[in-house]
Amino acid sequence: MVAWLLLVSLAICTQDANGQENGSFSSGVLHCGPQNLTLTSSDQMILLTWEDDPSCSAVHDVLIYELEVLIADKQAHYEEVTVTPDQIGSTHSWNWTSHLALECASHSVRLSSRYKNHTSPWKQEQSLPGIENLKDLEVFPRDKLFKVGSNVTFCCVLPVGQLFSKMYLTGYEGGYMNTTQISNQTYALTVHLNRASKESCTDVKCQAHKADNGACAYIGYPPGDEALWCETRDLESVECHWTVGRMTHLSKSPTVYRLLGSQCANEFTGKCSQKVQVDVGEKNWTLTAENQLGKVELQDSADLTKRVHMFAPTGVTASTVNARNVSLNWKWTVQQYNNLNITCQVNISHGETNTISENFGVGLNFAVLNDLIPNWTYNVKVRCGTTQHFWKWSDWSPSVNFHTRGDVPDALDVWMQMKDNQIIIIWKMPLANQSHGNIIDYEVTWARTTEREQPTVISLGPNNHSHILSQDCISCIVTVTARNTYGSSSPSAITIPSLTPDRTRENTSWINGSKGSFDLSWSASPAASCGYIVDWRPTLERCSVEWLKVPPSETNARIFSKNFREGVRYSLSVHACTQGAPVLLERLEGYASEKRIEDGLFKSLKWKQRFSDVEVSWDPISLREQTALIRGYVLYCLDDNGNIVINVSKDNPEATSLTARNLQISSYTFTVKAQTAVGECGTASITATLNSLTDNLIEAVIISLVVVFCLLSFITMLCYRHWTCIKQKVYPPIPKPVLTDKWLTSPGEHSCRPFRVDQCHHSEVDIMDVPELHCNTVNGYVSQENMPFVFAQTLKDYYNQPLKKCTPPPLTLPTTAIPSQSGLPTSPFRIVFPNPSYNLIMQTGDQQSNSGPKFQEGTPLERSSGGYQPQSNTETFTINRTEQDPESPMSCISTYILLP
Ligand SMILES: *[C@@H]1O[C@H](CO)[C@@H](O)[C@H](O)[C@H]1NC(C)=O
Ligand SMILES: *[C@@H]1O[C@H](CO)[C@@H](O)[C@H](O)[C@H]1NC(C)=O
Ligand SMILES: *[C@@H]1O[C@H](CO)[C@@H](O)[C@H](O)[C@H]1NC(C)=O
Ligand SMILES: *[C@@H]1O[C@H](CO)[C@@H](O)[C@H](O)[C@H]1NC(C)=O
Ligand SMILES: *[C@@H]1O[C@H](CO)[C@@H](O)[C@H](O)[C@H]1NC(C)=O
Ligand SMILES: *[C@@H]1O[C@H](CO)[C@@H](O)[C@H](O)[C@H]1NC(C)=O
Repeated sequence: MVAWLLLVSLAICTQDANGQENGSFSSGVLHCGPQNLTLTSSDQMILLTWEDDPSCSAVHDVLIYELEVLIADKQAHYEEVTVTPDQIGSTHSWNWTSHLALECASHSVRLSSRYKNHTSPWKQEQSLPGIENLKDLEVFPRDKLFKVGSNVTFCCVLPVGQLFSKMYLTGYEGGYMNTTQISNQTYALTVHLNRASKESCTDVKCQAHKADNGACAYIGYPPGDEALWCETRDLESVECHWTVGRMTHLSKSPTVYRLLGSQCANEFTGKCSQKVQVDVGEKNWTLTAENQLGKVELQDSADLTKRVHMFAPTGVTASTVNARNVSLNWKWTVQQYNNLNITCQVNISHGETNTISENFGVGLNFAVLNDLIPNWTYNVKVRCGTTQHFWKWSDWSPSVNFHTRGDVPDALDVWMQMKDNQIIIIWKMPLANQSHGNIIDYEVTWARTTEREQPTVISLGPNNHSHILSQDCISCIVTVTARNTYGSSSPSAITIPSLTPDRTRENTSWINGSKGSFDLSWSASPAASCGYIVDWRPTLERCSVEWLKVPPSETNARIFSKNFREGVRYSLSVHACTQGAPVLLERLEGYASEKRIEDGLFKSLKWKQRFSDVEVSWDPISLREQTALIRGYVLYCLDDNGNIVINVSKDNPEATSLTARNLQISSYTFTVKAQTAVGECGTASITATLNSLTDNLIEAVIISLVVVFCLLSFITMLCYRHWTCIKQKVYPPIPKPVLTDKWLTSPGEHSCRPFRVDQCHHSEVDIMDVPELHCNTVNGYVSQENMPFVFAQTLKDYYNQPLKKCTPPPLTLPTTAIPSQSGLPTSPFRIVFPNPSYNLIMQTGDQQSNSGPKFQEGTPLERSSGGYQPQSNTETFTINRTEQDPESPMSCISTYILLP
């Protein structure tokens, strides 16, 4: 090495000796390197400046400086700085930020230059020594600000003799901290700062075995503000607003805001204003927010003349207060507003109601409010904005109350009710917003339209809302007015219909309520020139009517009343309002809401067994008991175990019985329920034990036997009483005993049987009254019906005979007929003749077409004999009879008399 150096210097010397120019170049380049090194520091940054050796000016190529940083004599950083030929000769500077505070350890920098392959030796400037000779333990860096999210190294420098124990950050867990030893007495702690300081700063603590100490670290965020917008309020300044970002947690370095370069007061409210000249034209409005960790710049571009946000009007007063209108005035705090085209809104409120009226004008400072309710308290407030280039409304002015003056009441809502042949005029009590002052009285006036009489006037106290008119006030015109201290309302008139509507004649239709009200609609009536009136009241209660007036354009209404009750049936009527009396259009009935009918609806439940059927019956259900519309009934038949065996239902609401069929002989519980829209209800039960069928059978047999017996006895009695007649038939003077025997048994029965049937079917007349008549009737019947031939013939023969016999005295018929009706027949002719005529009536009534016509024409006797002609094919018999028994009528009479 020494030899090499000697050789080099020898070479230089020889070069010097050899040639000035060439030699100077070589030696200049060789001496080229840094000089005038200065090392300074700022915070954790070291700053190095140096110059080039004058010899470097000879270098025409890139010169490289190598820099090396040593911390506590250990290399911590190496870097090369390239200097271009044109930079040679100037002062160079270089900086580097150490991860350690400079107090922690000595920092030194050494430098060498390199040109082509020649490297100058290290030139070392004085180092920055760390803190030395400490009396107490110290932590560095102190009171420094850090961004959340950065990695930071703290060091702890111990006085000589102290032994390191530990280092930590309050609030941080061990996992984030790595402690390393840098030198004998220096230790370092590297932390990833993941949270802002909770208090003003975070403590960094160092403990040694005999002492401890710490430092404050301010951990926080740079400013995060955004969304700037600017406006003007007074046309003399700009007011900007922004959204303040999250808290920076840096009490040591609060964010500083600057609007257009001037610092803002009250910056944390997100609002800053500054006097400016407000001119037309778009401008940039810039706000900066800055703390030691960072800076943001916000910008808004706006023409302030289009961004006028007015101040609220002040001094709002109601200057002129009338009954139905009021003037409002207000003032402007900003003189310039008087030159602006302003739009103002007035919010008028009373109770729950709010209305807003809007107006505009240059420098607008008043408003007129119309259509107010007289004698009413209002609350108003005003806000305004520019009419052109509207930006936003001002705040509302403080609200102001005023009370309008009173006025005459509004016209009353009048209706009428016809109840119990009374005419009642009803009106609705005016509400406070209709009376406009305290009502003193009501005046009811009525006059008949037909007569030109003075109207009758009556005054009623303020608590009345109806008046009963005399019943003769049919087709009266009634007017009602209300009066308060300001005067009388305009009259409300109603014409009483000339005829009391016969309500029973009108069809009543059913309406289903919905949710406690009725949704009613009807077909439009051309008569309804002034609309419709719907009224309603409980069907069964004597309540006064309520009503609703509907304009002519509408044909539906939702009827709701706070008086509607569950389970009460209501009658509703729709009337057409006309120039004259109202016209009833429709009647309806329904429940606003139905209610379950209480149990025990069915009174006097009864049951009746008919063989294996049981009929359960009840009294008809009155309307009053129906809290829901009955659509039908259902009968449940439960056996002893409570199982439903049978159920029967009927959709007829009028029904009063239900029959369960084909039941076993057992005991049952019958439950009847009413079917309604709210379910089956009104339950009533009855228990029944069925009797066996054989019992019934025996009963039936006994009854039949008794009936047969009675019937037979009755017949026997009849036959007994009619013995004359019977005998006439049974006791013919025929000598043949065989024939007579037959007559005694069968003909008697046969002749009476049709008689009985005839009587039951065709006449309610007392059976006993006309015995003879029926005998003759028998004749007619028998001849018509196809009786056994022999038997019929005998009958015919027999009857034909007396009829023919009776022929001679027919002329007496009309006269004798009357006495015969007295029931005391004295001659056989009389007995025979009146009866056919009586028969005639009966037969025509009975429409016995075959026998009737025989008696209808001419002389009944001839016709009847003619009618019987076909049967004279048994002529031999007939002839014989007439010859043999000319006096048979006589014998008939004698028996009649004798027998009783
Ligand atoms: C440093 O630079 C100055 C001129 O800037 C010069 O006078 C001085 O001699 C230089 N050398 C040293 C070693 O200070
Ligand atoms: C601490 O050291 C461990 C292991 O040596 C390493 O994984 C971790 O990343 C270090 N933490 C920090 C904050 O440097
Ligand atoms: C406002 O700033 C934007 C960019 O920040 C620029 O382009 C624009 O020209 C500026 N406008 C005015 C009126 O200065
Ligand atoms: C104010 O603005 C309204 C609406 O643009 C306009 O009709 C009215 O003429 C303006 N008034 C004046 C005085 O300019
Ligand atoms: C009067 O007040 C009632 C409620 O109290 C309201 O329904 C009605 O519309 C008001 N009438 C007027 C004219 O304001
Ligand atoms: C009642 O209804 C029937 C059938 O719907 C109708 O013929 C009759 O005219 C109606 N009566 C009235 C008064 O409306």
